[in-house]
Amino acid sequence: MCRYPVRKRLSAPWASVPGVAASAIRFEHVSKDYASEQGRGAGDGAAVHDLTLDVHEHEVLVLVGPSGCGKSTTLRMANRLVEPTSGRILLEGEDVTTADPVTLRRRIGYVIQNVGLFPHRTVAQNVATVPKLLGWDRRRTAARVEELLDLVGLDPARYAKRFPHELSGGERQRVGVARALATDPPVLLMDEPFGAVDPVGRRRLQTEFARIQRAVGTTVMLVTHDIDEAVRMGDRVAVLSTGAHVEQLASPLDVVARPASPAVADLVGRGRMARLLALGRLERDDLAEVASEAIPAPTRAGAGDGASTVTLGADAASVPLGTELGDVLASFVGRPDGRLAVTDEGRTIGWVTPTSVLEALRRLTEHPVDGAPTVTQAPGRAPDAEQDPVGTLPT
Ligand SMILES: Nc1ncnc2c1ncn2[C@@H]1O[C@H](COP(=O)(O)OP(=O)(O)OP(=O)(O)O)[C@@H](O)[C@H]1O
Ligand SMILES: [Mg+2]
Repeated sequence: MCRYPVRKRLSAPWASVPGVAASAIRFEHVSKDYASEQGRGAGDGAAVHDLTLDVHEHEVLVLVGPSGCGKSTTLRMANRLVEPTSGRILLEGEDVTTADPVTLRRRIGYVIQNVGLFPHRTVAQNVATVPKLLGWDRRRTAARVEELLDLVGLDPARYAKRFPHELSGGERQRVGVARALATDPPVLLMDEPFGAVDPVGRRRLQTEFARIQRAVGTTVMLVTHDIDEAVRMGDRVAVLSTGAHVEQLASPLDVVARPASPAVADLVGRGRMARLLALGRLERDDLAEVASEAIPAPTRAGAGDGASTVTLGADAASVPLGTELGDVLASFVGRPDGRLAVTDEGRTIGWVTPTSVLEALRRLTEHPVDGAPTVTQAPGRAPDAEQDPVGTLPT
């Protein structure tokens, strides 16, 4: 699932087994029961109950689910801010419960829900926390701090010397992201990292972050309760319910197109078609007509040498294979003939019509995962599940 496996580290014994994705973090039958540890009996149910989950090297794995379902607890166990009640957690094959927590946390970047900046340190000092621990010299640290502040959209000249209480919530959160990226850690844990940022800034940060992650190959475990953030950011998405029970672990497209349980269907239900249009891509099977022989792609007047020149929008003559379905649909606007050429490597390979897009949506939603029926509604779901953060264990 790795898109750009830049980092070659590792690793674990199973890393070399062909066809098996190397595991950066592995949860093995992990449980966390705060109540029983605090002597309050087991009546509340465990925050995390018997979780087994692999985070593959270089991937972004997103945990998404309602408030109180155990997302933060799961994340915090990976760097030992929370100790599991039972089970094992392996970081690159090494049991974290036997690792020195301080050394462990230098290997793992962490962006905390509600930020957690040091209040008496400036923005620059906050970002420089781990470089300082690692003994970087002043010039290297300063250059890195400046680079990271730029990256998260905070002008160093304006922000470097401010203290956290002199920032907005969204600005604080961006400093948190910059701090976690400072030493380019191989594993990054992110708990609602963009939660307090406004929608436009959030989109920008998500895109920027995805770009950095792809370039550097960081393994990321990201927690959110926002399904759109989950499908936008994740290589894989784990949908959790109470007790960190894994309802579905699949690609973003699978989760949206083929929810595996009523809880997942409930989560993706609203706006599902819009999400599918953004996630689904035009495939060869969707063509309404196939060209008898490949012909050069149509070009716009004055658009240069042509063969690979393809534009989207109302005046587009063609779309390449692999275009987002939503963009294909948009390309029909203002085209009364309702027909669009499809190109592959600069050659027209056939045509699509608006009906082709509907067929593509049908294709996406009709094939069940592992033989399980696709769930499109959430019948009989406990109506107050989200208001009951403690709840009971899943049966
Ligand atoms: N230190 C603690 N002591 C006792 N119970 C706790 C503690 N921390 C969390 N819990 C409980 O464990 C459950 C899971 O909490 P957790 O913080 O992991 O949820 P979450 O999925 O991150 O929720 P949110 O989306 O609201 O951040 C909740 O029922 C919570 O009340
Ligand atoms: Mg949380």
